[in-house]
Amino acid sequence: MDQTEVVKPETLDDLIKTLHKIFESDCINVEEVQDIMESYESKPQEWMKYAKFDQYRYTRNLVDEGNGKFNLMILCWGEGHGSSIHDHTNSHCFMKLLQGQLKETLFKWPDSKSHGEMIQRSQRILQENKVAYINDSIGLHRVENVSHTECAVSLHLYSPPFQTCQTFDQRTGHKNAVKMTFWSKFGERTSFETTVSQENN
Ligand SMILES: [Fe+2]
Repeated sequence: MDQTEVVKPETLDDLIKTLHKIFESDCINVEEVQDIMESYESKPQEWMKYAKFDQYRYTRNLVDEGNGKFNLMILCWGEGHGSSIHDHTNSHCFMKLLQGQLKETLFKWPDSKSHGEMIQRSQRILQENKVAYINDSIGLHRVENVSHTECAVSLHLYSPPFQTCQTFDQRTGHKNAVKMTFWSKFGERTSFETTVSQENN
């Protein structure tokens, strides 16, 4: 009952302001963040300037640095684009669909003794405006735009922010550390040399 009262954000800017307020506290209520992100109704004209697509793979576009408490970014998924299986470096991960649909497949952490196929736990289709949440204790996931005709755009919040994560080979469970980069920051295309190992989350 003593939860902070949250007013529905009318615009993306409103949402960002509210998130700044929520994350002033070091104690994060996952449901509260999920609710506030879900209550924002996606309006393409508000996020269009961040939504930069690449022909070959999905892009990560930084929207806000959250006073150092979180990173807010927009991911643009062309037809058939998908991530590898990855972890979230001990951070909270919130993912809201701004446009289209994404398929999320959840995996168990591979156990150090087994070297076989990774175990799939569940699968779901995320619909427009819905917010999914994951962290490392829930497991690992792969995110894909399985549509061959529609692109997808998602808004991601990571707290605390992180720059590297681990990706996993589905057949063997072997992992790799990957540095993550931005395709654009604050609506401006970042320089090309940083996009080489662009992977994930
Ligand atoms: Fe992720």
